[in-house]
Amino acid sequence: MILEAFRKRYGTAENVRVFRAPGRVNLIGEHTDYNLGFVLPIALDLACFMATADSPDGALRVYSEEKNQSREFPAAEAGSLAPAHDWTDYIIGVARELTHAGFPVAPKLLLVRSTVPEGSGLSSSAALEVASALALLDGRDIPPLTLAKLCQRAEVDFVGTPCGIMDQYVSVFACEHAALQIDCRSLESQAVTLPAGVEILAVNTMVKHALGQSAYKERTEECATAVDAIRRLDPKVQSLRDVSVALLERAMPAMPKVIARRARHVVTEDERVILFVSACQRGDVERMGQLMVESHVSLQHDYEVSAPELDFLVDTAIGVEGVLGARMTGGGFGGCTVNLLRQGTSKRLRSTITHAYEERFGITPQIFLCRPSGGAGEVKNFERIPSGTPLSD
Ligand code: GLA
Repeated sequence: MILEAFRKRYGTAENVRVFRAPGRVNLIGEHTDYNLGFVLPIALDLACFMATADSPDGALRVYSEEKNQSREFPAAEAGSLAPAHDWTDYIIGVARELTHAGFPVAPKLLLVRSTVPEGSGLSSSAALEVASALALLDGRDIPPLTLAKLCQRAEVDFVGTPCGIMDQYVSVFACEHAALQIDCRSLESQAVTLPAGVEILAVNTMVKHALGQSAYKERTEECATAVDAIRRLDPKVQSLRDVSVALLERAMPAMPKVIARRARHVVTEDERVILFVSACQRGDVERMGQLMVESHVSLQHDYEVSAPELDFLVDTAIGVEGVLGARMTGGGFGGCTVNLLRQGTSKRLRSTITHAYEERFGITPQIFLCRPSGGAGEVKNFERIPSGTPLSD
């Protein structure tokens, strides 16, 4: 029980509240969020749980079960602390943003329990940020969009990882039993119910290539370069979101080849999200699967953010009977693939992919069944909080 863990750590479990924020898997719409396009993630039942109670002195104390580490900070200085370059940055970055947004941080005891595997591309950091924000707010009201944006700012400005809004947004706004189509320009979203008879599995490569972070920044710059070039043809273009396939085709010959390919990924990926959502609404599961594979190929060759491990998992999965489609998900260079399959075929995919991956890379992949869960909030029933180990099933 989380209360026992809290008592063991802090000597009291009085007036403890627990907040939960989910990780996510993105079905389609990759590297489109920072280009103000569309994404379609689902929140997972893998989540970060944060137990909190008032601190008897002026300190903000944080403890991570996963790391088995604790730290303490003067709560009154939460708005002006410097990054420590470890896991506490996600919490302190959020504390700083809350303070700046007019929500001063009170002295608290925090215990972090997360079932989102770190470094898997399932957004463990956004889950930690959003859970931290709710715990530090401790019931104070905040508009959900302000909450999501504030957590994104903590990650970009304090932790120093450039990212779009997708992960924090879906962690806050997700609806149970549905995916969430987010328009990253208007920041509006709609629930998209998945057709009956399909399942989603995430398969973790268990690798994270170091190149990831620098490449992400490089891609955002390449997209900006593409926008500058296309604007010469149409001055109304503000981001790749405004570019149609026809306009891109006209602009491509005058663009450096690499830049043109990056833009082609983003423009066609936005279109694939729209097509995927309508296939979903028609119940055309085959088309959904095809679009996922097209997305992967585009990320592999045009955007160049895949990795041999991801390509291998996708190629293996789509050869398995019952698998409708597969693609890398998240930023790339490792992390997970997301697989769409007919219900009842997951056993076959699990065993085929495990054996093939072990044979090829000598690594056992973690496999997660992804059931769309609801967005972040307070957990009233503590019985529903899992024990601290990641839920690989
Ligand atoms: C990372 C970022 C997201 C998004 C994806 C790529 O997960 O955190 O904002 O840009 O990469 O789609």
